[in-house]
Amino acid sequence: MDRRTFLATSLMGSVVASIGSAAAAAERYFPVKVDQSLFDTINRVKVPGKKTPLEMSHAPAITAPKMVKAGELFVVEVSVGENVHVMGPVHWIEYIELAIGNEPVGRVEFQPRGFMKPKVTFTLALPKDLAPAGVVTLVALQRCNLHGLWESTLDIAVG
Ligand SMILES: [Fe+2]
Repeated sequence: MDRRTFLATSLMGSVVASIGSAAAAAERYFPVKVDQSLFDTINRVKVPGKKTPLEMSHAPAITAPKMVKAGELFVVEVSVGENVHVMGPVHWIEYIELAIGNEPVGRVEFQPRGFMKPKVTFTLALPKDLAPAGVVTLVALQRCNLHGLWESTLDIAVG
């Protein structure tokens, strides 16, 4: 084997080994097949009365009073899924966000730890001018590392 052939073979071998080890590492940390279409858009429940298992475990569940008084404290609870989503090093919820319409309220980020639960509480007091029509829309958004962005909304009256 001449020097040129040796170098070309060595280089090719190291490239293949590098790609192989990267793929092995990816499979080690992400052994679950991912549906890439879930990352193309913001996912929402399609038929509220007939949620799929994926929708049940990923659509944010918002709990809030149906009516609040302007300026008074109230609590909004957001949990990821009706069946609380799993949290672990392979599959976890990265964050939960809450907005009032287009107005951001806050964001809670999670570490991929099994003892964490993707359920958070926001305490709000809405000024009257935020709800000129007497209604605001709470918008909850969450991101799952394997199943993409999911959004749910809930209208509440502000008196
Ligand atoms: Fe998920």
